[in-house]
Amino acid sequence: MTRTPFVAGNWKMFKTVGEAEMFISGLLPRVSSSEGVDVAICVPFTDLQAMVDSTRGSRVQVFAQNMHEAATGAFTGEVSAPMLADLDVHGVVLGHSERRQYFNETDRALAEKVPAALEAGLVPILCVGETEAEREEGAMERKLRHQVQEDLENVPVERLHEVVIAYEPIWAIGTGKVATPEQAQEACAFVRALVAGIDADAAGAIRIQYGGSVKADNAAELLALPDIDGALVGGASLEPASFAAIVEAARA
Ligand code: PGA
Repeated sequence: MTRTPFVAGNWKMFKTVGEAEMFISGLLPRVSSSEGVDVAICVPFTDLQAMVDSTRGSRVQVFAQNMHEAATGAFTGEVSAPMLADLDVHGVVLGHSERRQYFNETDRALAEKVPAALEAGLVPILCVGETEAEREEGAMERKLRHQVQEDLENVPVERLHEVVIAYEPIWAIGTGKVATPEQAQEACAFVRALVAGIDADAAGAIRIQYGGSVKADNAAELLALPDIDGALVGGASLEPASFAAIVEAARA
């Protein structure tokens, strides 16, 4: 089973429209010949329209970083999947650990959000991962099992392979403390086995990214691992040169 590598940059709450335009004009020439790799930037809501316009006809896809599970409703301050799809946004990050930790994103809500994204034609990147304490207590597998099973429970089996899962150990996010290749491979293989528990064909096709302090100098080693199909990159995605170097590492 060949899976197209997928490198996505998660900008988090960085970049005004002007800064985003500067970034994209630096990125596009650097990735224009990166055949065989899917590339995305996951940007704040306020940058979506500008980035969709600026990347049209290029290989760079534009993703949002969150959405509400309902299509419409009295949910002040929220944005829905059909609203994102209407802007030609390609996909959406769901369940990032910062959203789970600071904004009370629950697995209950994610069980609605993942199928709602697919329904609207968006590619969901579902983030899962354990804390340092959970890893030390030997609770990593229990945490991942819970997140994968509950968050995917309403996804129709025939669409399961369209979901992207990002395994992001929380202790590695923004800390410079990257998982070892052995730790990353083991966890991503475990996530794939969990998907196989739902549907074996989907497990062969689904793309699993590693995220957590991915940089230009550690990307090649991580991306070469058998169950790692790409990266979700935070800090190193904010500069065109370092992000493009990670995209390049995915081609090797
Ligand atoms: P980082 O963030 O690469 O800065 O560790 C990863 C993420 O939060 O997706």
